[in-house]
Amino acid sequence: MTPEHSSTQPQVERRRGGRRRDDPTPVGVIGAGNMGSHHVRTYSSLGGICELRGIYDLDGERCRAVARQFETHAFASIEEMLDEVKAVSICTPSALHVEHALLALRAGVDVLIEKPVALTVEHAQALRDSVASCSRQPVVQVGHIEHFNPAVREVAKLLEGEHIVALELQRLSPFDGRIVDADVVQDLMLHDVHVLLALAGEHALTDVHAVGRRVRSPELDDYAVATLTFDDGLIGTLVASRVTEEKIRRLSATTEQSHVTVDYLRRTVERCRSTHLELDGGGSRTYRQESLLERVFVPIEEPLVAQLRSFLGCVRERDAPEVGLDMGIRCLAVVQAIRDSISRKPSSSKLPSAQADRTTSDFAEVRRRPQPSPAAA
Ligand SMILES: NC(=O)c1ccc[n+]([C@@H]2O[C@H](COP(=O)([O-])OP(=O)(O)OC[C@H]3O[C@@H](n4cnc5c(N)ncnc54)[C@H](O)[C@@H]3O)[C@@H](O)[C@H]2O)c1
Repeated sequence: MTPEHSSTQPQVERRRGGRRRDDPTPVGVIGAGNMGSHHVRTYSSLGGICELRGIYDLDGERCRAVARQFETHAFASIEEMLDEVKAVSICTPSALHVEHALLALRAGVDVLIEKPVALTVEHAQALRDSVASCSRQPVVQVGHIEHFNPAVREVAKLLEGEHIVALELQRLSPFDGRIVDADVVQDLMLHDVHVLLALAGEHALTDVHAVGRRVRSPELDDYAVATLTFDDGLIGTLVASRVTEEKIRRLSATTEQSHVTVDYLRRTVERCRSTHLELDGGGSRTYRQESLLERVFVPIEEPLVAQLRSFLGCVRERDAPEVGLDMGIRCLAVVQAIRDSISRKPSSSKLPSAQADRTTSDFAEVRRRPQPSPAAA
């Protein structure tokens, strides 16, 4: 047990003493920026299972503005808040996640840490070591929100028992310039790394190849493509962009039995599978194959609501979270492998030049042809 935990146990018991198990859990939010405000909004809508005691943000003005908007208290310090709550969401910049999680855990407060759990695997492992040495296991959930996306959950059900050949995941967004401390792999592709690992289940990742390019950010990749291979042969292809003039969130799965496609934004899940392969009667040697297209019902629930409900359930029942530290660390390790692959020097093998490739020249020819004017079209 770490000294900090040995000193906090009595405090935890004292705080729990006056509460009944079914009482709404007192909660708070650290960091009331873009994501933190969503946590505040969601907790304040979950009266009955939690009681939002207040928020803390280093930016006092912002803290008071968000507190006013959601009719809650703006704490003057993290410590003051931790004295009042039993669970917190940590929505500060990623570089501060571990520091804030440790502060909360020392105060006997359970934590939901926004993704990524930390900036580096080593940092996240240090947090795991501290958690492992606690006598009363705290709840430490990582905010990989796609786990709670109803469309992703439906896909997981559809793929159960099927042999997955390949998964393709696309996450493309227009440029907004807001994220300046993380590249597109750390910021966007991380979500799909998590979905891919969750769908691949127990299978081990054996190979990672990735390329990326800077487009609008001076020093960070804005577009990346990664191919990941697992020990059962599964091929995962991830494409992430923050410079695409359309927001796209898609997943497609090819299995030996079916093809499943998901559009997260339209909330559609479709499965195409062949039902019959039979020889036509009448002596002809032709085969008839029937393909069945199923549209799967996707329940309506905001993923953040489902995520926070699940977290609060774990806090109340002392259950392990559905997305814990181990998954958070695996995702970080894969993100690091993708980034390493991108930054590796180009292969020394000689690749064919564009001139030698007739197909490329042919398309160049097509592009050079005069385009018909809109009126003529
Ligand atoms: N799950 C998701 O889909 C998702 C989406 C966006 C962001 N995030 C994650 O949420 C976290 C926050 O991102 P954001 O977009 O809300 O950033 P943001 O900059 O909008 O908000 C961060 C807030 O933290 C505050 N802050 C900074 N230092 C602090 C400190 N020492 N103590 C208290 N408050 C402090 C800032 O004043 C700011 O209000 C990041 O880790 C990000 O990766 C997750």
